[in-house]
Amino acid sequence: MLISAASLPAAAIAVSPKAKNMLHVTNCIRPTESEFSRDVVRGLSADVKTLPSRWLYDERGSALFEEITRQDEYYLTRAETSILRERQSDIADFVEPGAILIEYGAGAGVKTELVLAGLRDPRGYVPIDIADGCLAETSKRIASRFPSLWVRPIARNFLDVFEVPFDGSGGGRTGFFPGSTMGNLTAIEAKTLLTQMGRHLGDDGRAIIGVDLQKNVDTLLRAYDDSAGVTSAFNLNLLERINTELGGDFRIEQFRHVARWNEIDKAVEMHLVSLCDQRVTLRGCTFHFRTSESIHTESSRKYTSESFERLARSGGWRVAEAWQDADGLFGLFGIIHS
Ligand code: AVJ
Repeated sequence: MLISAASLPAAAIAVSPKAKNMLHVTNCIRPTESEFSRDVVRGLSADVKTLPSRWLYDERGSALFEEITRQDEYYLTRAETSILRERQSDIADFVEPGAILIEYGAGAGVKTELVLAGLRDPRGYVPIDIADGCLAETSKRIASRFPSLWVRPIARNFLDVFEVPFDGSGGGRTGFFPGSTMGNLTAIEAKTLLTQMGRHLGDDGRAIIGVDLQKNVDTLLRAYDDSAGVTSAFNLNLLERINTELGGDFRIEQFRHVARWNEIDKAVEMHLVSLCDQRVTLRGCTFHFRTSESIHTESSRKYTSESFERLARSGGWRVAEAWQDADGLFGLFGIIHS
């Protein structure tokens, strides 16, 4: 059965961070944990070992990602933020006055504030994020900075099928999907999300999407293997998380973080490479790793204007605006559902 988020009261959607540590919470914690364990067992059993990148973001992983965004080599966040600042009024022109902003994967919502501050008479803000603690905090902060805004968080994976509640008025809706998160999705997931966004945002609905642009491979790889080792710690943290949450016995020092360019997918891949022949046990399963065998933990796809346009079109959208930072590193696209 599909449970529409619209039918749930806000309190049932936004779970307090405290609830995460309770053993007997029935509706959120257990399914999530078994989903994690299912993904890990499945991913490590495959011929080519993979783990879905969304599991990188536990509390420590999210903090490490924040630290990544402050590294010299990781240009993405700075470039995108500079576009949001420099093009604030162009972005506001693209969004109808009185619109509701719906953010897919809201996180800390820092970029959201930049957009909202520029908009004319924004009516509402609907952040969608699976990290419920973060979601509640972001919602509170935004609601207090923009007191007239109708704020309605949705604690969901944005790839799930769900509805976005109405605020009762019939104004326009604009989607916001910054941070190059689109790049972490497979072609099918990206198309599915764009299609769902079309359904949420309606005919003639608008969306603002941030994606990283193709550039020389050295620059790309350095962004995913910073000299301070923060990205390495971020990637390896996934093994720590498996040890803690699933009772695994990964010896972290026997794995190494590697960033690789996949020329066919036009993606930077993160891998965890086994430094020796070894076995790992968790949840009663044993997994064998050959020396140099890797676990693929994330792909970050890089676009050109053309390849992004193709993707947008595949999901039922057309590109109306294309903004870039001064160095042409990052792209922010204004798309219209049509
Ligand atoms: C937040 C998912 C967009 O792919 O660039 C950063 C995550 N991974 N360094 C990205 C990430 C390694 C980031 N996204």
